[in-house]
Amino acid sequence: MQHNAELMAKFSITWCLALASVAAIVSAQSVPQMDEDEWWGPPEQEIDTEQLQQKKSIRPFSITISQDEIDYLRKRLLNHRSFVPPLEDSNFEYGFNPDQLDVWAQYWANEYNFTRAEEVLNAYPQYKVNVQGLDMHFIWVKPQVPEGVTSVPLLLLHGWPSSVRAYHDSIPILTTPSDGLVFEVIVPSLPGFGFSDAAVRPGMGPVQMAVVLKNLMKALGHKKFYVQGEDWGAVIGRQLSTLYQDDILGFHSAQLTVLTNCVEVKTLLAGYIGSLQIDLHQFNRTASTDLAEETGYIHLQATKPDSVGVGLSDSPIGLCAWMLEKFSTWSRRDNRLLADGGLLNHFTRDQLLDNVMVYWLSNSMTSAMRIYAEYFSNAQRALGIEE
Ligand SMILES: *[C@@H]1O[C@H](CO)[C@@H](O)[C@H](O)[C@H]1NC(C)=O
Ligand SMILES: *[C@@H]1O[C@H](CO)[C@@H](O)[C@H](O)[C@H]1NC(C)=O
Repeated sequence: MQHNAELMAKFSITWCLALASVAAIVSAQSVPQMDEDEWWGPPEQEIDTEQLQQKKSIRPFSITISQDEIDYLRKRLLNHRSFVPPLEDSNFEYGFNPDQLDVWAQYWANEYNFTRAEEVLNAYPQYKVNVQGLDMHFIWVKPQVPEGVTSVPLLLLHGWPSSVRAYHDSIPILTTPSDGLVFEVIVPSLPGFGFSDAAVRPGMGPVQMAVVLKNLMKALGHKKFYVQGEDWGAVIGRQLSTLYQDDILGFHSAQLTVLTNCVEVKTLLAGYIGSLQIDLHQFNRTASTDLAEETGYIHLQATKPDSVGVGLSDSPIGLCAWMLEKFSTWSRRDNRLLADGGLLNHFTRDQLLDNVMVYWLSNSMTSAMRIYAEYFSNAQRALGIEE
């Protein structure tokens, strides 16, 4: 049975690929024309012209963690309802292990140093500038450029559930000249993530974010630039490179994904028959047999982000569990079998909590999750950019 199913699946995939290639040749997909002035903020007439002019200038920004905020967070962490005990002999197979969660709540409330966190989050110069109605937050580090060294602009894009914090450790390396080259780095919070404004109306998917980021770079004086992206940042980087082929000087992707009809069929089938993906990708860190088990969050976040967001935005420890479970399994799938999820084999507690803090302080989990809904929307698919 298994064998037959596999053969049939392979057969359908072969056909699907063949049809898709023919369709691609016949339709010769063109690059969609995007409205580069599309407005995503509150209606323009509601904003004072003077205020808007001021918002369009590049303003220094820093993150503050007030004592009120710290007190409230501590109170919430130390007064959570008791967790439902984990099942006997289970570790992270059912999700974040509740016994471990107590350790994180205690650490966050009693040992995590908020002064240090504030210093770390403000380690690099940050700014805000209004682009298409949204106040965009970004780190911007201009390097020293000695004679004979060329400086090139590089846009670094994070994803979910990460943040600009993901790039902190790379910035000093990139901004130090090497082989006659140095990078000027720009690390924005994606719209709806962290300290960047969220769109106030539906439709802000990765393609629209690509346009916003292109305009952000333009505001900083860069028409042409390099891009690196992980997770959603990789999707957006790919779309930037598709939309603006003359302006993107190079694109480095930390994750190759593409969403076409054919890929969708294959992904669905691979949920049952792992070899369909393994054959193609020779990728062994997250086996595709785990696909159905490990992608439930995508379906939830793509369909009901606002419902899921209520609990996550209201409970710091709930937010921590939802986010850190991903850092555990996505670092190594066998981490599910470890009592502590293996988190500290890859990160320090502070690194992980600093990243959770970005979402908690800015109360941005709900708006951040909406990117899933917009990406899988019919409107986004109709652009045909993935083809
Ligand atoms: C917390 O961090 C600040 C800034 O890094 C440091 O000065 C202070 O000593 C730390 N507090 C403790 C209790 O470690
Ligand atoms: C993939 O991982 C499994 C389990 O960890 C291992 O037994 C297998 O040899 C790996 N395959 C490859 C191609 O690395």
